[in-house]
Amino acid sequence: MGISGKRIVLGVTGGVAAYKAAVLTRELQRAGARVQVVMTEAGARFVGPATFQALTGEPVFVDQWDTRIANGMAHIELSRAADAIVIAPASADFMASLAQGRAGDLLATLCLARECPLAVAPAMNRQMWENPATQRNVQQLRDDGIEVIGPDSGDQACGETGMGRMLEPDALVEAIGAWLAPKRLAGRRVLLTAGPTFEPIDPVRGITNRSSGKMGFAIARACVAAGADVTLVAGPVSLPTPWAVRRINVQTAQQMHDAVHGELDTASAAVRAHDLFIAVAAVADWRPANYRDSKIKKTDGNAVPELAFAQNPDILASVARRAHPPYCVGFAAESESLEAHGLDKLARKGIPMLVANIGHETFGLDDNELLILEHGSQTRLARAPKALLAHELVRHIAERLS
Ligand code: C5P
Repeated sequence: MGISGKRIVLGVTGGVAAYKAAVLTRELQRAGARVQVVMTEAGARFVGPATFQALTGEPVFVDQWDTRIANGMAHIELSRAADAIVIAPASADFMASLAQGRAGDLLATLCLARECPLAVAPAMNRQMWENPATQRNVQQLRDDGIEVIGPDSGDQACGETGMGRMLEPDALVEAIGAWLAPKRLAGRRVLLTAGPTFEPIDPVRGITNRSSGKMGFAIARACVAAGADVTLVAGPVSLPTPWAVRRINVQTAQQMHDAVHGELDTASAAVRAHDLFIAVAAVADWRPANYRDSKIKKTDGNAVPELAFAQNPDILASVARRAHPPYCVGFAAESESLEAHGLDKLARKGIPMLVANIGHETFGLDDNELLILEHGSQTRLARAPKALLAHELVRHIAERLS
């Protein structure tokens, strides 16, 4: 998934966010990377090299004239061994020096001498970030093909609030994974639905489907990692928005339907149409027919309210019926006759691919097992964490799109 098996040089420059670089080191390792830390003098004033040395089990380099590397060319040795260089935190000063191609210290030198991709995670106070000089430098870095990850906005160490905070380590790992993954969906627009829908009975009650949204959110992440432009229409779930995903929150099936078609309608001569629609949401098939806008009172005795239901629109089928539909992928959770029901659904909804959850008790769990049904073929994805399955599924879909 981008990071696993990679050798990453993590450059730590001078900023208070350097303390987050220790956690980032751990998270990158957890994602399967080998991490080599190189610090600037200023970075080493914020967090000691010993911390990173202990975490990585590798010597930490600061000094350009370090004699531990045999040929005296640490910058060449270190960048040659790396699959990627990530500077986190990247100070305003360090980005200025990168933008100018300076080689004033070991880290700047190895960035200049690199053959691998380079990403920076800016961290600085709001005024420094907004300064036109910094913005010019950021633009220069982008023009030079350097990935700029973040910054985020929020509370800052200087007591201010604003743009300039380094992304949190978990978001950074996600962004780095996406940056390093193969871009199978580059230039594609993807629309997804995820989570359950909630159909209100009255202001305090409603019916819903069991769905954590984990699978849909994992697929949205995998699409971003594959280079797609991703919009996620999400029902009520308590999951953070994946990095670089545009999220539209909805409650009911009708709102989800309207949001999906509204999004598809944005295509124009200037805006590329969506290439792919993945319906992962567990949409409620019915909604209470008469919504009461005040709470239904419990009466004395045993009288219970009668509920009447109305049919919700089938979002997936309605998208597949559009004049120029995107490639449509449906999901199905069946408790029995998975294959027969799945093939039937494929035909009924008029879609080319349906992904069936094998075993219907995966709600909220991190693992899943999938069966991809297409007209004339079947592919089984063995039990694995949802994040991993999402990447495999996206690879499979990308092959069909190309
Ligand atoms: O018809 P069924 O609910 O079994 O089909 C499941 C698939 O259809 C899923 O992809 C789900 O997101 C989608 N669906 C939908 N709108 C509905 C019901 C299901 O988009 N009203």
